[in-house]
Amino acid sequence: MKILVTGGTGYIGSHTVVELQNKGFEVVIVDNLSNSSIKIVDNISKITGIRPLLEVFDLTDREKTADFFKRNNDLKGVIHFAAFKAVGESVEYPLKYYRNNLVSLVNILESMGNNEVQNIVFSSSCTVYGEPDELPVSEQAPIKKAESPYGNTKQISEEIIGDTINTSDIHGIALRYFNPIGAHESALIGELPLGIPNNLVPFITQTAIGIREQLKVFGNDYPTRDGTPIRDYIHVVDLAKAHVIAVDRMINNKMKKALEVFNLGTGKGYSVLEVIKSFEKVSRQKLNYKIVDRRAGDVIEVWADPTFSNHELGWKAEKGLDEMVLTAWNWEKALLNKINE
Ligand code: UD1
Repeated sequence: MKILVTGGTGYIGSHTVVELQNKGFEVVIVDNLSNSSIKIVDNISKITGIRPLLEVFDLTDREKTADFFKRNNDLKGVIHFAAFKAVGESVEYPLKYYRNNLVSLVNILESMGNNEVQNIVFSSSCTVYGEPDELPVSEQAPIKKAESPYGNTKQISEEIIGDTINTSDIHGIALRYFNPIGAHESALIGELPLGIPNNLVPFITQTAIGIREQLKVFGNDYPTRDGTPIRDYIHVVDLAKAHVIAVDRMINNKMKKALEVFNLGTGKGYSVLEVIKSFEKVSRQKLNYKIVDRRAGDVIEVWADPTFSNHELGWKAEKGLDEMVLTAWNWEKALLNKINE
């Protein structure tokens, strides 16, 4: 059972490769290493005892993508993670985002069609819901106009997959992630932000370890319980496991329609200050932070209704906030030890 994982050396991709291998799937990774390290492949094999195959090229290259699929016509499915994901950068360089995130998807779908590869799992995001009218957010909630080119690429990608499915034998599952955090319990793989992190938890752990001086909390005047925004943080291993279930569902013809959409969240929301408190508790140290102005484009609060995923996939996020934050902290400390080695 061979599965292509695009972006398989990245944050969510690497954790998913581990879970796929744990369940006996053969994995081939395609990655251009633009935001990840080739060393992750060694670390994946340290965890699972199996070295995944890796091909390094850019999926926006139509010829190379076509050639890869021709050589790998025994693929049972594709999990497509490879994409740019920095919201702010996408506002500054929209065409970079549209080209990278959309052209690669078009190339993959085209090659899937030409080689009778029928199953694709797509990395989508809760960003498609914008500022939701009702909480928790179910899959039926309306799609709001995207706040950023990044968010728009997720919406358009879901549409591209939908349109392709209508005219081919391809099946798709779009997984809408809430806020993935944490790292593998081995501390061998985790999030590796290039440069200054955009996301909350890597910024917290980098501040605590001394790489950053101070965390800026973007606004405490939101209409929430403590004034800071609320998100549904989900452990990356819980998220990874849902991908394996989605692949299995496709291969074993358990889908109810050709395009299915699932929310991947815990159903619980935590504020920025609650995440900081959790970090201070599990790390037993105070975090240097200050409240600053709001960040443009942030939604006030969003958390998932995971009922449909829980029932249909037989999947449930298991890890709580403290455990998520602790694994992120252990990963940050492991990175520091590596540098000092
Ligand atoms: C954003 C995107 C999401 C995308 C994800 C990946 C939106 C609404 N969401 O998630 O689609 O998949 O990035 O990059 O665009 N915060 C601070 N200080 C910091 C960093 C963050 O206070 O230094 C706060 C933010 O204001 C927010 C919360 O922490 O309230 C979470 O932020 P972040 O981790 O960046 O995730 P989202 O913005 O929710």
